[in-house]
Amino acid sequence: MTQIKKLSENVYWLGINDRKTHLFENLWPIDKGVSYNSYIICDEKVALIDTVETGAISKFMEKLDGVLNGRTIDYLVINHLEPDHSAGIPAVIERFPNIKLIGNNNTAKFLSGYFNINHNFQLVKDLEEIDLGQTKLKFYMTPMIHWPETMMTYTTSEEILFSGDAFGTFGALDGGLFDDELNFDDYENEMRRYYSNIVGKYGKHVQKAIQKLSGTSVKMIASTHGPVWRKDISKVISLYDKWSKYETEDGVVIVYGSMYGNTEKMADSIAFALKDEGIHNIKVYNASKTHLSYILSDIFKYKGLIIGTPTYNAGVYPPIEALISTIEHSEIKNHLLGIFGSCTWVGGGVKKLIEWSEKIGWEMVADPFENISVSENKSIVQCNTIAKNMAAKLMNK
Ligand code: FEO
Repeated sequence: MTQIKKLSENVYWLGINDRKTHLFENLWPIDKGVSYNSYIICDEKVALIDTVETGAISKFMEKLDGVLNGRTIDYLVINHLEPDHSAGIPAVIERFPNIKLIGNNNTAKFLSGYFNINHNFQLVKDLEEIDLGQTKLKFYMTPMIHWPETMMTYTTSEEILFSGDAFGTFGALDGGLFDDELNFDDYENEMRRYYSNIVGKYGKHVQKAIQKLSGTSVKMIASTHGPVWRKDISKVISLYDKWSKYETEDGVVIVYGSMYGNTEKMADSIAFALKDEGIHNIKVYNASKTHLSYILSDIFKYKGLIIGTPTYNAGVYPPIEALISTIEHSEIKNHLLGIFGSCTWVGGGVKKLIEWSEKIGWEMVADPFENISVSENKSIVQCNTIAKNMAAKLMNK
């Protein structure tokens, strides 16, 4: 049985839910699954927008056959060449050898490099249109959301924006395609996790795209992952706008590594002290247990980050090292920072965290400290100071 859903009279969703894969990009947990969304517009001419991931090709081709009912496809629009959307291209070309592939210069380059395909390629430029009959397709170049070739495609009649990864989310489609058929609250956290994990580095490019599209009337946003937005369009755009400007809420993420519980004790002390100072949103994570995907998502949400590490081989504890490296590469901005740690004979972990903090340029709320076999009393004073200063900055005292 094949589910074929329509976005409008002539536009169909050909997406596939994936609840088998554990790690998206072999990196990010997807406990709630993910969908790979492809769409097809059946006008006087037929245009397919993107394909699906490699494990979903046979289901996708079955759906495609069901919609086409013997018709051929004129165009395959490649909004994004990352393989979760392009893996089906060779199968589509094999079935429809006369199909024209639509993309930009980078699309052509990557298509050749990835698949050795140099087939019937039609180059399009920013704001160029092609005519399908009743509707036209208009192309908006939106590089780095999230690869250099990424573009968006807009239908002039139904005003549907096929946005690629932008406005996408983790989470398979549980029984509904449109946002009004689903519970938005089920997706908001997954959407922020998707944004922070996949697109977060490219905030300035998301801002450019939002500005570029600001004068365009959009009735539906059909991204490559997650629901088609037709009810909460402005909410979805405002969330992406907020995250891409690194705007945060008042709250603190405390992340620690701890082998024998000493750094963990300090993390708990700081958390309780923050609560006493009036901070309500506090998330405490053991970096050895919680995947950094979730920690990163909360760092995008909250203004404050306090990191604690034991010294390990004269440096930062490895799970914390992975986290700080990801923060640096994601180019996250506008946060408040606190640093603490512990060691038994010679330090080094906190020194490395300080060096890292100088590179990312966040505001430090208190002097970092590293406890070398000091009394518990001194440690409590230091934890209280970091909590007090963080709370004061958050509450503008
Ligand atoms: Fe969903 Fe950047 O691929």
